[in-house]
Parts: sequence; C-alpha cells; structure tokens
Amino acid sequence: MNSSTIASPDENEYFETHSAPPNLPELSRIVQGFVLRHHAAGRHVVLVSSGGTTVPLENQTVRFIDNFSAGTRGATSAEYFLEAGYAVVFLHRQFSLLPYSRHYSHSTNCFLDYLSEWGRIGEDGNQAGGDVVVHSKYRAQMLDVLRKYRRAKEGRTLLLLPFTTVTSYLFLLREVAMQMQMIGNGALFYLAAAVSDFFVPPDRMAEHKIQSGDLSGAPETEGAKPATQAAATTKETGAGKKLVIDLDPVPKFLKRLVEGWAPEAMIISFKLETDPNILLYKCRQALERYRHHLVIGNLLSTRKFEVVFVDKEGEQWIRVPEAKDGEEQIEIESLIIPEVVKRHEIVMSAKKDGPMAGNQDSRAPSASVTQ
Ligand code: PMT
Repeated sequence: MNSSTIASPDENEYFETHSAPPNLPELSRIVQGFVLRHHAAGRHVVLVSSGGTTVPLENQTVRFIDNFSAGTRGATSAEYFLEAGYAVVFLHRQFSLLPYSRHYSHSTNCFLDYLSEWGRIGEDGNQAGGDVVVHSKYRAQMLDVLRKYRRAKEGRTLLLLPFTTVTSYLFLLREVAMQMQMIGNGALFYLAAAVSDFFVPPDRMAEHKIQSGDLSGAPETEGAKPATQAAATTKETGAGKKLVIDLDPVPKFLKRLVEGWAPEAMIISFKLETDPNILLYKCRQALERYRHHLVIGNLLSTRKFEVVFVDKEGEQWIRVPEAKDGEEQIEIESLIIPEVVKRHEIVMSAKKDGPMAGNQDSRAPSASVTQ
C-alpha cells in the first residue's frame, strides 16, 4: 500500500494496516462470556470508554502524543451504572482512573493520607507493634466505597479492559461491539474517552527513537525511513533541530459503530469543546453526521459542573446544584447516569426499527436536573 492511499484511510484500511493487540481473541472470549452471563441474569450491559488514547511517534515507542483526559468521567460514570444495575465493560486507558479506586488514587488525594498508625509506644519512644488503620475521619466514606467495590467484585459486574494507543482502543471497541450485538438494544455505549483524531500511519512511522542531536558519523540506523516518507522529520533551524510531524486523520469510527458494529444498541457520544460558542453547534453536527441517539456536550473548564444532552428533540442542560455550606459537591455523574438510564429504557421499550428507534420521546425531564 502506498502512502497516498494511507493519507485518506477508511475504516477497513485502518484495521488492515494496523496490528491487532496480540491477546484480542482471548479478550473477545472474556467479553463474550461476560455479556452472555449478564444478559442471562437479566442485566443490561454498558460499554464505558474512558481516558485518552496515545499516538506513538516511533515503532519502538519512546515518544507519543497524548491528551489531558484522566478518566474521571468514565470511572465515575461506571460506578453509577453499576449502582443502577448495569454490568459494565470498562474500556479504559491503562493507568487512568478506575471505578472505586479513583477515590484514593488521584495525585491530590494520596491514599496514605487516609491512613494512620495505631499501636503502643516502645521503650525507645517509637511506635512498636503498631498497626495501620483508616483515619476515623474517612472511615464512613471508605466503608461505603469498599462495600460497593466488593459488591461489583463478587457479582463480577465490572470488566476492566485496558488500552494505551488509539489503535488498541479501536480494535477493542470493534470487538466488544460485535460481542454486544447479541443483546440488541439491551446494549448501551457511553463513549467518554478522548480519542485521538490524528495518527502516524505504520508505513511512515520511524522504527527507532527520533533523534534531536547530530548523527553525522554514526552508523546508519536500521529501518530508517527516507525523509520524504517519514511522518516525523527534523529540520535544522540554526538554533537547534525542529521536529515536524505530519499526522493523518483517524477515521470517525462512530459511523461504523452506529451502522455496522452495534446497529441496535443505544449509542451516546461525548463532545468536548473549549469555546462555549460552538459547543451546541458541534453536538448537533455530530448527531446529524452519525445519526445516533445522544450527544453529551461539555466544556473543558466546566465539565464537572454542567453538561448538555443533545438529541434530535433538542437540548437539556444538566447542572450540579451549588453545595450548601459544609456540604460536599455532588458528582455530576450522579445526575447524568439516571437520565441516561431513563432514556435507555425508552429506547428498549420502543420498536426495534433502526438505530434511532425510541429517540422521539427520549427527552424526559428529571427532578434532580436543572434546565
Ligand atoms: O477524563 P476526564 O478528565 O474526566 O474528561 C472527560 C472528557 C472531557 C474527556 C469527556 O467528558 C469527553 O468529552 N469525551 C469526548 C471527547 C471528545 O470530544 O471526543 P471527540 O470529539 O474526539 O470525539 C467525539 C466522539 O466521537 C467520542 O465520543 C468518540 O467516541 C467518537 N470518536 C472519536 C474519534 C474517532 N476516531 N472515532 C470516534 O468514533
């Protein structure tokens, strides 16, 4: 395949020109078992995608492009879906936040701060034979999280599927979608991951670490691409080397998901913007382009406090009420998920005549939601 074909790849080309994760068949069997078991138990299954995807710049990857997403939206939403009785396939960026452990793993919330030492003082004045206990201040909250975590673990209702690169994300998304086809509109896709829009095609990817220094006199690098074929090249500027990266667009797989991989499922995509003036426009554009059920729009700066649901009936803002003195701010996902579940119920009760079935009356107002 030449580089001009790869410059405008479609979905098939993308999968043909990239290698699938080596353990994909095994993961596929695990997902199949998970979906079948929960379907038989009368549970709906939601795929929650979460976190950012990386775009490697080298085959033997030293450098990659990443994005800001920590996976808070996905991990928090997964907990509320579990509470609502769903089985959750959590397709997440490796090492991003996970349901339940997220309460203690964030960098501003070091888990050690939740612990204290309990025990007697030895003859030397130091603690001896002491023990580690949860600080009394945090016990009630931790007990609540622990119980929910245990319930999910014992019920095996949470399946963790990690990815790192945009390619492994896409292979996994396709595979999970195929396995979820068997439960029709009992399947829900909640795509909160921040998926990269650009990538380096394999035939233009540098094999080895891209060099910033002078290599004249060094032995020739094995597998080096001529500058005309390489996606990343360095240019001498006088004040040092400049790195120039030429990325291709990642095909929008949402279309393929809606039309082919999961035609009966309810599909919810997210749209992140930084400019409030274009958020609604971009949400409507996505809905029109992909013809799925719902777009949830959010702004980078306010995403924890407000989101907008956009479907073909219109918009509905969901806002976190201001916390009263001494109260903790509620999580916006505690308002989003009940609303999503309500809309999923409507989709499931509507006749199955296409991906937009049930969308007509799906903008039901909610008591806990501010408009
Ligand atoms: O993790 P946090 O820090 O909590 O942040 C959460 C979030 C802001 C990342 C999340 O709420 C969010 O908005 N996620 C979507 C970000 C976004 O705007 O993605 P996008 O515009 O690249 O894609 C829009 C939708 O198209 C996504 O739902 C994605 O699943 C889909 N997509 C994207 C790329 C691609 N190649 N194919 C796709 O189908």
